Amino acid sequence: MKDFKDKVAFITGGGSGAGFGQAKVFSEAGCKVVIADIRKDHLDEALAYFKDKNADVHGIQLDITDRKAYAEAADEVEKVYGSPPQLLLNTAGVNAFGPCEASTFEDYDWVMGVDLGGVINGMVTFVPRMIQAGKGGHIASVASWGGFSLSSGCTPYSVAKAAVIGLMECYYEALKPYGIGVSCLCPGGIRSNIGESSYTRPEHLSNTGYNTNEKTIEFMRHHYSFGMDPVDLAKILKKGIENEQLIIMPFDDPEQMMRSTLERWVNYCTPEGTRKQDELRAKRREEMRARMNSDEDNMMTGAAEAGWGKANPSITWVKNDGFGS
Ligand code: NAI
Repeated sequence: MKDFKDKVAFITGGGSGAGFGQAKVFSEAGCKVVIADIRKDHLDEALAYFKDKNADVHGIQLDITDRKAYAEAADEVEKVYGSPPQLLLNTAGVNAFGPCEASTFEDYDWVMGVDLGGVINGMVTFVPRMIQAGKGGHIASVASWGGFSLSSGCTPYSVAKAAVIGLMECYYEALKPYGIGVSCLCPGGIRSNIGESSYTRPEHLSNTGYNTNEKTIEFMRHHYSFGMDPVDLAKILKKGIENEQLIIMPFDDPEQMMRSTLERWVNYCTPEGTRKQDELRAKRREEMRARMNSDEDNMMTGAAEAGWGKANPSITWVKNDGFGS
């Protein structure tokens, strides 16, 4: 997809961070933008930004895990703009940090429900509508570099993101005959409000095995303030969409990063490789611990003090600090 003029773009999580950056960039490129977000305050702020910008932007408050509400949102788009979107950006996501073995069912159900389930809901809701509209288009989902570089300190997140990468590869092949391109954006750190994820965690899924409190949230606000600018990221996404690229990585040397990911799996195939990989992991864990306790690393300062990545204090049997034993 190269021409964005007058195309309808539907952006989940468009009220903040990466999604808000996309709303700015694709609106600038000529799209009519629908911002769908669970947080009313994020929606209001985003819509207020566009008020005097001569941009065609429509807001819908939506929880992407709610399939009925998602279908109603799709109906609303057709009513407002006369067609389903030609550009679907599955961007909304949440995260949570803590030792893998402390994870509760609710940690999995919440994080995977939003980060994987929400993307699936976007695909199942919109793909048939986009195909039937016959206008082609493009779908991009935001996974994460964490979907390749898996971490036992945020297992439900890593697993959901890895699954989104796989999901997009399947759709990439499947949607070619319909003129619908598919991409998966895999960023590292983004300057965003994702540290506040737990604010939208549903009450019935509130039982967590992770240490989550105002101190850990404050730490994450600090941590993510060092991330990439969302508008710069959205520009890279746009370029990747124009190039019809399946995997879009905003790094200087993505190929080398992918080679090191593949090397990890190659290592795990043999006993010698497994030992080598275990040593590498242990070394990285020590580096991470040192960074967490260091005063010199702005990004990680306060991590240990905030208790970030640790188990819920009610759990007494966990040895790990979120970075493996
Ligand atoms: P953000 O929190 O600033 O933006 C996410 C938006 O999604 C928020 O406005 C939030 O209200 C909304 N949202 C959350 N749950 C929702 C739901 N159930 N239904 C609808 N909207 C919902 O965070 P950020 O960082 O911009 O996140 C965007 C995407 O980028 C996510 O998929 C995240 O996993 C991914 N990502 C973020 C990274 C980072 O360092 N912040 C790194 C790599 C990927």
